[in-house]
Amino acid sequence: MTPRARGNPIVAIDGPVGAGKSTVARAVAQRLRFRYVDTGAMYRSVAWAALQRGISLSDERAVTALAQSLQIDFVTDPEGQRILVDGVDVTDLIRTPQVSDGASVVSVYPGVREAMVAVQRRLGADGGVVMEGRDIGTVVFPDAEIKVFLDASLDERARRRFEELRARGAGADLESVRRAEEERDRRDRTRSHSPLRAASDAVVIDSTGIPADEVAAGIVQLVQRRLRA
Ligand code: DC
Repeated sequence: MTPRARGNPIVAIDGPVGAGKSTVARAVAQRLRFRYVDTGAMYRSVAWAALQRGISLSDERAVTALAQSLQIDFVTDPEGQRILVDGVDVTDLIRTPQVSDGASVVSVYPGVREAMVAVQRRLGADGGVVMEGRDIGTVVFPDAEIKVFLDASLDERARRRFEELRARGAGADLESVRRAEEERDRRDRTRSHSPLRAASDAVVIDSTGIPADEVAAGIVQLVQRRLRA
């Protein structure tokens, strides 16, 4: 029997930016003692490396070759999960607005997606994982045992993102954060390769006005019910 069949499911959590995926996915992984994989951090890493090396984000061939050559690793330390790109800790470096924007540009390229999806499938192969992204339930693991599509209103998503940026000391105003979210959403939903959408068998959760720990508890219950079924 494969580890997945022995009760180590894959929990796929997809949704738009600011829906609370990271907080929720991390909490679900912690409660279930599963591994947590943030796939957005991988696309961010590609954008960061391209910017770092002076590769134009509009140069699809160069960005694709870069994505295929990068070694992206997740490591867990006492402070949480860190992401390394060719051995460099980029955990904090990939959270700037410039990298956010760049990630949504490079994630449109099919070759970049294929390279990232191959790594994601390896990371999730044994199950016991909570994987968060845009296409986990539709493309990366269409056979995931549990699929959640986490959504929230644009106003709430912009407000959460704004608070997050402010907490990190980054200067931002709510209206420009809202516009940037709207633009990233549009790109994610309308790209021809693996657009953001809910899988037909996903449980759709609207988290508007619901605290993250409540959403996480609901997903944990869902996983436990499926495991018992
Ligand atoms: O979740 P995030 O904001 O860290 O994601 C950064 C960008 O990467 C976002 O614009 C969408 C893209 N992305 C993707 O295309 N597919 C994924 N599985 C995860 C993220």
